[in-house]
Amino acid sequence: MEKISESVVRKDHAAKISGEAIYTGDYQNPDILFGKLVRSSKARAKVLKVSVPELPEGYCYVNRDDVPGDNNVNIVKDDTPVYANEIVEYIGEPIGMLCGPDQKVVEDLWKRTEIEYEELEPVLDLRLATEALFNYEYEKGDWKAAFAEADKVYEEEFETGYQDQTYLETQAMMAEMLEDGKVSVSGSMQCPYYVKGAVMRAMGLGPDKVRIAQEVTGGGFGGKEAFPSILGCQVAVAAKKAGKPVRCVFERREDLEFTSKRHPSLNTYRVAVKDGKVTAMDIDVKFNAGAYTTLSAVVLQRGLICADGVYNVTNLHVRGRALKTNTTPCGAYRGFGAPQTFFSVEMMMNHIAADLGVDPLEFKEAHLVKQGDGTSTSGKYHYPVPLPDMIAEIDAACDFRKKYAQYQKEQTGRFRRGIGISMHFHGAGFTGSAERDSIKAVAKLHKLPDGSVIALGSNSEIGQGLRTTFSKIVANELNIPLDKVNYNYPDTDKVPDSGPTVASRSLMTVGELFRRAAIHLRSEWKEGEEQWVEEHYVQPDYMIPFSLNDFKGDAYPTYAWGVSAIEVEVDTDTGLAKVLGAYGNFDVGTPIDQNIVIGQMEGGFLQGLGYSSTEYMTYDNKGRIRNNSFADYIIPTSMDVPNLQIQLHVEKFPYGPYGAKGAGELPLVGVPAAYAQAVEQALQNGQKVNHVPFTAEDTMKAL
Ligand code: MTE
Ligand code: MOS
Repeated sequence: MEKISESVVRKDHAAKISGEAIYTGDYQNPDILFGKLVRSSKARAKVLKVSVPELPEGYCYVNRDDVPGDNNVNIVKDDTPVYANEIVEYIGEPIGMLCGPDQKVVEDLWKRTEIEYEELEPVLDLRLATEALFNYEYEKGDWKAAFAEADKVYEEEFETGYQDQTYLETQAMMAEMLEDGKVSVSGSMQCPYYVKGAVMRAMGLGPDKVRIAQEVTGGGFGGKEAFPSILGCQVAVAAKKAGKPVRCVFERREDLEFTSKRHPSLNTYRVAVKDGKVTAMDIDVKFNAGAYTTLSAVVLQRGLICADGVYNVTNLHVRGRALKTNTTPCGAYRGFGAPQTFFSVEMMMNHIAADLGVDPLEFKEAHLVKQGDGTSTSGKYHYPVPLPDMIAEIDAACDFRKKYAQYQKEQTGRFRRGIGISMHFHGAGFTGSAERDSIKAVAKLHKLPDGSVIALGSNSEIGQGLRTTFSKIVANELNIPLDKVNYNYPDTDKVPDSGPTVASRSLMTVGELFRRAAIHLRSEWKEGEEQWVEEHYVQPDYMIPFSLNDFKGDAYPTYAWGVSAIEVEVDTDTGLAKVLGAYGNFDVGTPIDQNIVIGQMEGGFLQGLGYSSTEYMTYDNKGRIRNNSFADYIIPTSMDVPNLQIQLHVEKFPYGPYGAKGAGELPLVGVPAAYAQAVEQALQNGQKVNHVPFTAEDTMKAL
């Protein structure tokens, strides 16, 4: 193992383990007002009147009339209101906020607040939705000719459900007006500069009048990528009106019902096969965006770019739409659009192989991309594709091929087994040229006279270990002890904009900036002096520029690769599928801390397993999410996968720090297809598993 990979004690370990870490909800400041959002109880309606009870001294009600700037939250497209406009678009949409010193009093006022509506017809069902918020289409090769010449054309529809991030700490933000009209907003978040842009716009303030700080954050998983911008604007407006600090911490129920989750999807695959090989794919992807656009454009783009999976499909047509429904707006969740299409393409390949009477893994192996091949978007796989070796390593770990053959034979009795395998990649970092054109990351090092160094950037520790890995990189280059280097929770008054903590980009992209900054500092090191160095992102010049107009070029600088295998035993009496073994082989380049990377792989894998099996979420006929507690929304625990084995396969990326690539999202993406294939095999009746989650109820139905 390389020195940089050797595990250290995490920088955030002691405070979190001892309970000393102060989260947003923990601050004991008697001045902070308790804020509670007044929400729409209708999926689509005109708000005629909001009757707030008479407010005691020190209490206030805030709504869109109090927004000093634009009543729009800056995200990608600015259609999310800070506080609802005349028409509410989903159940739970914030109409206003009640604030006051005593939580009980606020809650009582909240209960007695009455809203009169004129109800309008909502659109709830993705299948009935017609308004495309985003609509993309791209093609490659002569797919029409390939379909015309095919021996056989296969068509199948795949469906994926909601998934909620279920971070330990719910959404939590607070705001305070400082002297000279400056606003300070802090809380649980992934992207302080996103929140800053949003608060500037809503408050009508310049950059020097807005300060955003991340507090200790109990997980994000994408759920705190855009959402804190909305809540941040809401508390900022409230703090201005109240003239006191305001804090809003969501209840779990509120968080599950009304915050962004993974987009449900409906994907139709048409595949042309000639002489036993796939010659073309024609793919239609539909994502349920919910009521506002938030991040749907970028989530959909990623989903479409990986729609043909890890296969060399030279003739390709992909169409995708994010459709509006009057439901909670969807957003980012680890994987960012990729889990939906990877599930679909992997199952499609299995089902074609079954029809052709060939082994699905061998069928897939015959189509794998390799270094030098074109990507779906006519870019290039510039670096080695280690999938064949990784498949061999998984096979060695779990005897996949032998077990698969064995479980294909007839099984009788109550318990039946199956095993599944899937292959995938995760495009490392932002899609397209966003890194170069809009983010333009800057990272700084501040050396103090005592020889200690503070690394400065806007990326956030959300559990993925960034405070530790950034510090390790700097300490390693400067050859100083790790406790001499620190990376803190970012505060926009103190740190440059090194971009958001998304797309598994921070360690790979910003970590490399820190490495280069440290090399720079080392070359100019002056004992006993204070010094500053700064590094700016430059796009590697091997990249074929990406154009979003026609989806052409390198969508990603490189790819992290994954092979996942899952073995299950289905109880045909209860429908429960017990996971006998779960195996992940992941190439994230050089691990910048073995324990952290293994933890990332295990955590992501487990979330993938929940997505595949138990995390069922739906809404009632009025559009209200029904699974709003951990009794109704079942996430797996470590007890559900006693035998989870992770292997790391290292294919170094020359432009990442010491060869590291984006890691965090990868392990979730391939799990649904591996799980579904395993359950499908165990069912033994030829029933296709073409949706996730595939719950015990689904298994009973299939049996
Ligand atoms: N791991 C933990 N413990 N907590 C998180 O919130 N977020 C995931 C992943 N791993 C997350 C996590 C998501 S959605 C992303 S995009 C990446 O971490 C961010 O990794 P990065 O810091 O390398 O960008
Ligand atoms: Mo991760 S879904 O890009 O925050």
